[in-house]
Formats: sequence, structure tokens, C-alpha cells
Amino acid sequence: MMADVRCVDVAAGTADRRMFVDDDLFAREVRQIFGRAWLLVGHESQVPDPEDFIQSKMGTDSVIVTRTRQDKIVVLLNSCRHRGMKVCRVDEGKARAFTCPYHGWTYSTDEERVSRPGELAGVPGFDVHYEGRLDKAEWGLKAARVRVYKGTIWATWDEHAPSLEAYLGGMLKWLDSALDHRNGDSGGSTLLVGVQKFRVRCNWKFPATNFVGDASHAVTHNSANMIKLNPSGKDGRRDERASGHAAFGWPDLGHGGLGFLPRPEEEFPRPDTFQQFPAASNYLRDMAREHLRKRAGGIHYQGKGTIFPNMSFHEDQPRTLVVHHPVSATETEMWRYYLIDADAPDEVKDIFRHYYMTYSGPGGMTEQDDIENWESATRQSLGGMGRDLPFNYAQGLGESEPCDLMPGAVWCGRTITEQNQLIWLKRWQEFMEGRSWDQLMHRVEVEDDAAFPLKRH
Ligand code: FES
Repeated sequence: MMADVRCVDVAAGTADRRMFVDDDLFAREVRQIFGRAWLLVGHESQVPDPEDFIQSKMGTDSVIVTRTRQDKIVVLLNSCRHRGMKVCRVDEGKARAFTCPYHGWTYSTDEERVSRPGELAGVPGFDVHYEGRLDKAEWGLKAARVRVYKGTIWATWDEHAPSLEAYLGGMLKWLDSALDHRNGDSGGSTLLVGVQKFRVRCNWKFPATNFVGDASHAVTHNSANMIKLNPSGKDGRRDERASGHAAFGWPDLGHGGLGFLPRPEEEFPRPDTFQQFPAASNYLRDMAREHLRKRAGGIHYQGKGTIFPNMSFHEDQPRTLVVHHPVSATETEMWRYYLIDADAPDEVKDIFRHYYMTYSGPGGMTEQDDIENWESATRQSLGGMGRDLPFNYAQGLGESEPCDLMPGAVWCGRTITEQNQLIWLKRWQEFMEGRSWDQLMHRVEVEDDAAFPLKRH
């Protein structure tokens, strides 16, 4: 029986807690959301040379991300077509073929040997036991659609999905701010350290909706703000109106973010964040000047956001990408990627490496604050009584207005709002209903669809 996916009440600004703990809904998410959406699977700098590979994830599936001998990046389902065993069991390495440890089927990525990367190339006893009748072209590893964008590697299982750029819409510009060189040049970023991977006993939607624009959880990070670790902190607290917060939502696509704008040059970076580290502070200032010069008339954004469904990013220091991989209804595996200008001086890279570790990840002050919230909220939603009570997302609802600060159909507000979270939740419901891409991309209308944003005055 299909789980009831009508969990979000846009008019009331509420969401059913079942979507954060229910096993049936989780099973449906794996197929309806993670089987269709574009997902971040890695960064080019993880596979710089031919035959390099890493193991990554798409939803609950393990995948192999590899650069072939022919210099093409491909993403393959890491599950043998014979009985399902993982054909790759190490995090990273170098190979042009993957041999399953169970019965020895071998899959090649070398297009001099096979007609497409991942094709079945060798089967023990092929001539004797199968008498040559097994169609190797038919039994290769499943391949995903891939798009490499400014160093990031994305994949989707859905051959009918729109292009990555269309899927991202106006959010692409904001993502650029995280991926571009600090001087405003296109691209130019690399990973600073390896990917940090850690398990959190919470539903994956807690971090996803947190980064989509939860401005009012500043109290969570009071400790980090007091010691001025937080670049958006202000003298031990955050005054959202005074610091020019704005929540951006793309109602048609479900993405969203929380920005601080406009950013005058003298506030970039916040002088107190790196005051003990002049090399880093000066580097950022010089880059910001260059950036503003190149993008005359442009606005410098600083903020964070979530690309539906499970990729979030910080645009400014710490400059990171994070993927919230679903494990179960109540467990998430978070992967954090740290970005830096590839040509930044070593001294600056080292300062940021220390800063990033202190700020984000399992040992970082702010991430630990957040994790405690998400785990507790998940636990309390499993209770016999607790699970029946809806969550409230009504803050600032209807206060946002259309604006031209960002590309696309954007709505923003200068006050704190939870509308971005509601936009994301509504997108969740649209995917869970199994809507067509024409409906998901709002090329055709859906009858009785709740509209965003809600204008109450
Ligand atoms: Fe892979 Fe049998 S499960 S060869």
C-alpha cells in the first residue's frame, strides 16, 4: 500500500512529523526522490587522472565514480549484476576494471576493450558453463547520467530529468559563488582536505532544511558566536535584521538559501573572524576587491543554501559543500567537502584547514551544536504522542516578496522567515507524489496546487 505522502500543509505552514521518522515514507523517498533528482557525487580533484576512482553514494546506493582511460568521468552502480555484491569495496584507488569478489564477473571501463564504461567484460566459465550465450552488453553495471560543473560531479538515474543547469535554475548563480575562485574567475577551486564522513542519528531532512534558510536557530550557536568563531556572528549574538539577512526561495524548484546582503567590501571577511591570521584576512580582502572589480554592479553574496534534495553549501568561509546521505528514516551519513582556491598560498590554505576543522564537521563547534538538535528532534518524534504533533513552519509566512537580486523566480524577505523551509518541504511532497518532470519544472499546471509565496496582505 502506498504511504500517504500528503504531509505538508502550505496554508497552515505545518508538516506532519511522520516524514521525519516513518519507514514507509523513507522507502518511498529512496525511489521517488533519490532515484530521480540530480545528486552531488564528488569533485573532479578526487579523480584527477585516468583510472582514478572513488566510492560515493546516490541515496542509499553505493556508486563508483571513475575517470576512464579515455578521460571521461562516469558513475556506475556499485552492485554486481550477477547477485548484487559490491564490485568495489575500497574508498578510492586506481583501476580500469572491477572484478566482483563473489564469483568473479569483471566489468571494464576501458572503451578500447568494451563498448561502454561498466560493461561486463569477463565471466569465469563463460565458454563452458554459459556456452557463450550470456549477453555481456546486457549485463553491465548500471550507469548514471553525469554532469561535471565547475569541478563538482553530479549524477542522476533518471534519463528524462532536465539538464543539471535547468534543474538548478537561478540557484546556479549562488552555487557559483561557492565554486568560483575568490577573485571572481569562473571555477578554480579544489578540495582542501579529504572528505569528512560521519553518521548522525537523525533524519536527512533536518540538515537539508536547516541549511535551506533556518535563520532563527542562531541561539544554537551562541557559544561559537561568543568566541567570534562564526563569520556571521555579531558580538556574541546575531541580529538578523541589522545584518541584512534575506532568505531566498525558488518556489518552482524547491531550492533555497539564506544570504547576507549586500556585503560592503569593508565587511568581507568579517574582520574579527581572522584577525589573528593576517595572511588569511589579507588574502580574502584582496580577492574580494578583485571580485567586486570584475563584477561591477554585482552583489557579493555571503550565505548558505540547500539544493534539493540533499546537497547544502556555505558560500563563504568556511567554504564547504555537504551532502546528507540518507541511511534510514532515523540515520544520516554526512559528507563534508572543503573548498579552497587551487592557487591560494600554502600558508593561507593551512590557516583555512585549521579554521574549517574548528568550525564544521564532527569536531567543529557549529556542526556539533546542530547535530545535537537534529538527533534530539528525531528521537522525540518517535514517541507515541510526539509523532502525532505537526511541526510549525509559519514564521514570517507571507512576508516575502518577489525580488530581482537573484536570477530566476525568486522571492526574498528582509525579515526572518521559515518560508524557504516550507518551499523545500512542498518540493518533497511534489516528488513523493510522483509528478512528471513537466509538472515538477512547472511547465504544466497541477490542479489545486498550493501557490508560493502566500501573500496575506
Ligand atoms: Fe558478482 Fe556473483 S555476485 S559475480
